[in-house]
Amino acid sequence: MKHQSIKICVATLIVVVMLSLMCCTNGTSTSNNLNPLILIPGNGGNQLEAKLTTQYKPSSLICEPWYPLFKKKNGWFRLWFDSSVLLAPFTQCFASRMTLYYDQELDDYFNAPGVLTRVPQFGSTYSLRYLNPRLKLVTDYMASLVDSLEQLGYIDGKNLFGAPYDFRYGLAAPGHSSQVGSKFLNDLKNLIEKASNSNGGKPVILVSHSLGGLFVLELLNRNPSSWRKKFIKHFIALSTPWGGTIDEMFTFASGNTLGVPLVNPLLVRNEQRSSESNLWLLPNPKMFDIKKTLVATPYRNYSAHDMVDFLKDIGYSEGVYPYETRILPLIKKIEAPNVPITCFVGKGVKTMEELFYRNDDFDERPEIFYGDGDGTVNMVSLLALESLWKDEKNQYLKVIKIADVSHNSILKDKVAVDEIIGEVSRINSHDDQLGLSKISLAMPIYDGK
Ligand SMILES: *[C@@H]1O[C@H](CO)[C@@H](O)[C@H](O)[C@H]1NC(C)=O
Repeated sequence: MKHQSIKICVATLIVVVMLSLMCCTNGTSTSNNLNPLILIPGNGGNQLEAKLTTQYKPSSLICEPWYPLFKKKNGWFRLWFDSSVLLAPFTQCFASRMTLYYDQELDDYFNAPGVLTRVPQFGSTYSLRYLNPRLKLVTDYMASLVDSLEQLGYIDGKNLFGAPYDFRYGLAAPGHSSQVGSKFLNDLKNLIEKASNSNGGKPVILVSHSLGGLFVLELLNRNPSSWRKKFIKHFIALSTPWGGTIDEMFTFASGNTLGVPLVNPLLVRNEQRSSESNLWLLPNPKMFDIKKTLVATPYRNYSAHDMVDFLKDIGYSEGVYPYETRILPLIKKIEAPNVPITCFVGKGVKTMEELFYRNDDFDERPEIFYGDGDGTVNMVSLLALESLWKDEKNQYLKVIKIADVSHNSILKDKVAVDEIIGEVSRINSHDDQLGLSKISLAMPIYDGK
């Protein structure tokens, strides 16, 4: 009898120990075993806050500092995205507060005098889920993607992070000051190291959208390969305009309503022209054929190689100097970082390919001819890395094209999000870099579809 009960006891103990072991290994495999992941949003892809100081000079009566009425106690308020931008008189206030100024002597971009800006909650996915948490339905940005990552076991602040930034600023070629953009790269670098260190030294997966991909590539190439090897597991680039877009020429020429029919594009054109990152997104002459006309008037055809004349002719000659000195040398070199990269691109969505200004007047809407792309970025730009790096033996590059998915819907569309999550799982299931380097030798460049 005694023996019997001891046996049962021992058996029970073994079962309990096994169960608890199973539970714990299960627990680690759903969260602790994941490679930390950092999301880097695109242009306009995160919240931005502002505060006005005594130096602030309102551009009109209605733009007095009392607007907006609702501010935090310390004076900070939501600059992006705020729905008052849709009401004509306030569109101007918004635009003047968002405008950047290039100082040729200091060779850098600055905020408008008296306007301070900041990004809420760097490190968290909070400010890139919704551009305005009070208008979730219409300002949903990365929320679906973040939700799906959380279902995979990712936990915000533990192994899932967000890197929001002041997207109006860009980067410049070496030798030129770009304080805001460079600080962002440095903050991102520190976040990567912190994410890895707090997750047992596991290298990080970077997932960018749009403009965020250009920042990530610069970050990788501006750090030594030993750093990249230690800290980066994989770079997933969604909808990246590697070679800029023709859509951006349209924005510079005529202003862009942000897809909101109520906004007068001419009210936001100056602000859009002033943005350092927008200048970075003009079509890159390395990728767009010199013979291909992108913008035409009865008197002139402009290709990607005529950008200086284009900027002058649309009435934005202030842009010529920073474009020639800071942007052209920056986009001339697009080096392979030898970090495994997967690009997801939308295709089959009609995308601006040529603009014709019949009356040589850039304030008027042009006649638009469309081609293939993701609705914002042209195919030649989305696929640029494949051709640029075709001879790079040590660059693992996989390109996955998804039909009928647009520039932003890639973050929400079920098919697209499932594919992205599948790729994240696949990357996580490689227990070391060895597995991947074998693949990369076998097929350095692979076209997913
Ligand atoms: C622009 O290019 C088209 C051909 O693509 C040509 O027919 C036209 O004459 C050119 N216009 C000018 C002003 O050079």
